[in-house]
Amino acid sequence: MANTDNVGLELFLTGLRNQHAVENQAVSLLSRQVERLENYPEMEARMRQHIEESKQQAHRLEELLTGLGSSSSSLKDAGLSFMGNMAALAHTVAPDEVLKNTLANFAFEHFEIAAYKSLLALADTVGQSGSRSALEQSLSEEISMAQWIDQQIAPTTLRFLQRSRAGTTAGV
Ligand SMILES: [Fe+2]
Repeated sequence: MANTDNVGLELFLTGLRNQHAVENQAVSLLSRQVERLENYPEMEARMRQHIEESKQQAHRLEELLTGLGSSSSSLKDAGLSFMGNMAALAHTVAPDEVLKNTLANFAFEHFEIAAYKSLLALADTVGQSGSRSALEQSLSEEISMAQWIDQQIAPTTLRFLQRSRAGTTAGV
């Protein structure tokens, strides 16, 4: 039984560390994007807000890890190939950059939603229910961001089309 509990706790810790790495990646990706959104000021403002939220989310994960006697420093590897691919997409500087980034950000937020749901399922099972409120707070922020991006997909696409038809430099 103790062995089973250790397995569960290790899985929980790994999930916390992975998500900490994802949050740091979110901060870095969004920080690059907001520098090139001068023609999409609403998106820029919402993304700047989410950068701050992501920093808080990373901090919450650090606190949970510290509380469990674990460090968040050995976070590099984390098997983030999916996120790496999303990052590569989001890094692409293409004429339709704002569209690609919007789609990638939508996927990114849903990856994060899934990660927090998974952590919440583990928290109860491995006796870490005290982690719930922090994880739920972050989950609700990811859901809000995903819903916001969802609402932006159509208008951003049409705005990009309008700018392209007008012959405006399309990138941003
Ligand atoms: Fe996040």
